[in-house]
Amino acid sequence: MVLIAPSLLAADMGKLYEQTAMVEKAGADWLHFDIMDGHFVPNLSYGPEIVRQIRLQSKLFFDVHLMVENPLQFIPMFINCGADLITFHYEAADDVAAVIKAIKQHNIKVGISLKPQTSAEVLRPYLQDIDLVLVMTVEPGFGGQSFMHSQLPKIAYLKRMIAERPILIETDGGINEETAALCVQNGTNVLVAGSAIFKHPNTKLLISNLHKLGE
Ligand code: DX5
Ligand code: ZN
Repeated sequence: MVLIAPSLLAADMGKLYEQTAMVEKAGADWLHFDIMDGHFVPNLSYGPEIVRQIRLQSKLFFDVHLMVENPLQFIPMFINCGADLITFHYEAADDVAAVIKAIKQHNIKVGISLKPQTSAEVLRPYLQDIDLVLVMTVEPGFGGQSFMHSQLPKIAYLKRMIAERPILIETDGGINEETAALCVQNGTNVLVAGSAIFKHPNTKLLISNLHKLGE
């Protein structure tokens, strides 16, 4: 089974309610929120208030991707806004174990994200404690970039490393029908897609095709 997580970064920001309802109706499983601070990545997106507003109207699973320095500082506010999963960047955390603990104590799921240059090996000490690994297939910071094929062996390596543990592999950046198929072949369970989903003329068909990759 493959889960589909549209990234709202590519949505029409003036019509967030409509866009959220549209992907929900089209069969999306999760909603992916990209939180950027202008420090960890050279871009700004939106903050917890947007997540809170959308939580009022959506029953989807809320997948919050923190691209921020000092993730510990931001965890409480995103938990209060209805996050079901918070993923932070390995590269941004001074004390990875402390961030994991801070998220888990609120009884929500926790993920760790890796930039393209970061080795999968860094996760080995934390495999007992996390629910998800997010493999970035672009440099984080912007939607609409090209998929980095160089990350496919990392996905396959992680799949072997995770083995029987209940950890999902999520892939984010440059995902379309073609690159999604490669990711799923290598072990991806959750596909994040921004541009491909929000610019597609038939979102329902696209999501249905992406779901079929996992059958
Ligand atoms: C990039 C973000 C992605 C982005 C994906 O830093 O983490 O979630 O929105 O956008 P696309 O699918 O357009 O590459
Ligand atoms: Zn993301």
